[in-house]
Amino acid sequence: MDYQLDLNWPDFIANYWQKRPVVLKRGFKNFIDPISPDELAGLAMENEVDSRLVSHNEGRWQVSHGPFQSYDHLGENNWSLLVQAVNHWHEQSARLMRPFRALPDWRIDDLMISFSVPGGGVGPHYDQYDVFIIQGVGRRRWRVGEKVALKQHCPHPDLLQVEPFDAIIDEEMEPGDILYIPPGFPHEGYSLENSMNYSVGFRAPSGRELISGFADYVLQRELGSQRYTDPGVPVRQHPADVLPQEMDTLREMMLDLINQPEHFKTWFGEFVSQSRHELDVAPPEPPYQPDEIYDALKQGDAITRLGGLRVLRIADEIYVNGEKIDSPHRPALEALASNITLKAEMFGDALEDPSFLAMLAALVNSGYWYFED
Ligand code: SIN
Ligand code: CO
Repeated sequence: MDYQLDLNWPDFIANYWQKRPVVLKRGFKNFIDPISPDELAGLAMENEVDSRLVSHNEGRWQVSHGPFQSYDHLGENNWSLLVQAVNHWHEQSARLMRPFRALPDWRIDDLMISFSVPGGGVGPHYDQYDVFIIQGVGRRRWRVGEKVALKQHCPHPDLLQVEPFDAIIDEEMEPGDILYIPPGFPHEGYSLENSMNYSVGFRAPSGRELISGFADYVLQRELGSQRYTDPGVPVRQHPADVLPQEMDTLREMMLDLINQPEHFKTWFGEFVSQSRHELDVAPPEPPYQPDEIYDALKQGDAITRLGGLRVLRIADEIYVNGEKIDSPHRPALEALASNITLKAEMFGDALEDPSFLAMLAALVNSGYWYFED
């Protein structure tokens, strides 16, 4: 099933995106949950899946981390199970993210799903990223405050909360309602009934992450080996001084490294196409031969992108999970980047080129795209 989001995107971006929180009443009409609470609880029992249980009792907060063996110890109130990156593990849940591709793929992160019993929530807090919180089954009361500096504290070492705040949004969310929250607006959700929430999260690199990621690239490729030179070393009154023009030259040396457009592009493509959570890769056994891929596609079979796999395009090149994919078949690369499911005709004549077919076989044999049965 495909999810249809009833939203005027230009209007939303002009008025709310990165600016103001807003409730989009019935953003999804006749919303049907992509996953059941039982299935979600099952996922949180898997080793590879990142999950936590947050509960509170008379102001005392507890956090435990998955994988969980059982849920028998939990009462009927005041707890919430949160599972990260469910789009990596559950295809129907991944579909819920597609309508948000009105925003750029590189800014979208993953889908966190929570199941909460009455009174359940993680308490008042800030997030650093934009998020769309979709209400699934059940009702939950959400409050959002103005973007102001609030005192933060940790009621449990794994839980960062803010002090109580006045609400600018206070809403009982119902199935299909969406709450959009830009970074830095305090918020809290308390369940009124057993309820599911789907958080489509975004990412935005900090300067620190960019510098550190670029430094890794420089080290890996052994760039920047040239050393500082000063054939006309200026004399100075105090030998201890580093002169302003020397500082300028040093800064230039660093900026020159970043100012190499080809390297900058390759680095950013590799950097931003990496997933922050494990992928559910299942390489086919035995691997496909290129001609088997050709035959299957020509017979009308389709290949589907693995949930959570990041495929991004910069200029003419695409980047898949941290790797640059090079090919002269630009339209075919664009098709791979744009479409989640692909059929033969979307590749055009690229399928007739053995080198393209070999590359496609490698992607399928890595488990990045798969044939649906
Ligand atoms: C949730 O409890 O489902 C979302 C938590 C959050 O506000 O980030
Ligand atoms: Co939050």
